[in-house]
Amino acid sequence: MQVAIITGASSGLGKVFFEKIAERYPQLDEYWVIARSENKLKELAEQHPQQKVRVVPLDLSDTRSMETFENLLDEQKPDIRVLINNAGFDRAGLFREMKLADIYSLMNLNVMGTTMISRLCLPYMDKGSYQILTGSIGSFAPLPWRAVYSASKAYVRFFARALHEEESKRGVNIMLLSPGKMDTEMFHKNNKDSGNMSIQPYLNLDKVTVRAMQKAENGSATYTPMVFYKIYRLLAKIVPSALMVKFTSVEGSTK
Ligand SMILES: NC(=O)c1ccc[n+]([C@@H]2O[C@H](COP(=O)([O-])OP(=O)(O)OC[C@H]3O[C@@H](n4cnc5c(N)ncnc54)[C@H](OP(=O)(O)O)[C@@H]3O)[C@@H](O)[C@H]2O)c1
Repeated sequence: MQVAIITGASSGLGKVFFEKIAERYPQLDEYWVIARSENKLKELAEQHPQQKVRVVPLDLSDTRSMETFENLLDEQKPDIRVLINNAGFDRAGLFREMKLADIYSLMNLNVMGTTMISRLCLPYMDKGSYQILTGSIGSFAPLPWRAVYSASKAYVRFFARALHEEESKRGVNIMLLSPGKMDTEMFHKNNKDSGNMSIQPYLNLDKVTVRAMQKAENGSATYTPMVFYKIYRLLAKIVPSALMVKFTSVEGSTK
């Protein structure tokens, strides 16, 4: 049974990924959509009656969900052709004032959840399949007022790049997608009443998801959409981080 698996499919980037995957790969037997909001996932499935959408409600920051998911994989033994490892959580603010629960949620999802989903799925992926991990432009340089988030995405960046080398040997492509600002629930929850990231342009989710799939099919290791963000990535590579962090501080402190 050939499947595509999308985490964080109930809204934002993950939801658009699901829609574009259903269009691009109509031959797949099943599309597994994962997030906590079961109702939103069911709605998504109802909107696509022509596809067999399997609703998998899981909290990926919880280790018990990983056991549930491992059992599901063991029972179904799917041939995973596409994995979009995308669910993520963000909290902006001064680190010393962050709620401990928010720090746990962020690290458990962005770091542990992303890692474990990859670990559980890779044995079910074979030559010609691919995984896209959603990182962030926030991983290119440290972000004051978003210290934990940017550090978690720096982890994802290193993790994805290393996996790319390991898995390309057997023809499985691992690609890091590093998006900039997107008009999604996450962005609005974290940036309402704030001038933060105001100079950054919004990405077009339809274009980003389709281009990301094309690049992943062609074996790319990374994809940073839009010239504006590519230039930022280049700057972050050549400018010493002691200087970069002064610039990202200005961006983060405009509250
Ligand atoms: N928006 C931006 O500007 C931006 C920029 C760069 C990178 N990103 C990254 O893009 C990815 C997608 O974010 P988005 O912008 O599309 O935000 P979003 O609309 O808030 O989507 C986040 C998705 O993750 C799911 N999720 C959150 N916590 C979860 C948990 N504990 N277990 C399982 N699923 C969980 C959410 O569903 P439930 O709430 O139903 O669980 C939702 O489907 C994230 O990795 C984010 O870090 C976003």
